[in-house]
Amino acid sequence: MTPIASGTYVNATHYSYTFLCKACILADGTTFKASDATDTLGFAFSTAAPATPANHASALVHHASDGHFTANIAGAKSAKYDAWAALAVPGQAVTFRA
Ligand SMILES: *[C@@H]1O[C@H](CO)[C@@H](O)[C@H](O)[C@H]1NC(C)=O
Repeated sequence: MTPIASGTYVNATHYSYTFLCKACILADGTTFKASDATDTLGFAFSTAAPATPANHASALVHHASDGHFTANIAGAKSAKYDAWAALAVPGQAVTFRA
């Protein structure tokens, strides 16, 4: 996943994380298909930070909440794919801002 800063924001009711996903669709059937209209994705979060946030190998605390949601894959497609993909900067730090 390569983040797109200009498509990433948070406000009082929504958050948006926009990213270029390369090689996300696998031919082995373990992911959704490009032709799928929707897919179910899961999430988990905690209010406690990892032991060492700067270290990607840091231990995580058990999540406080989890769930799943249906993603509208058909609605996520864009005729402006090339323009969006050009905004994805590898290694770019993305901050959620109101
Ligand atoms: C947050 O952003 C979404 C998407 O642009 C918008 O529909 C919604 O009204 C916004 N909420 C607030 C409280 O501004």
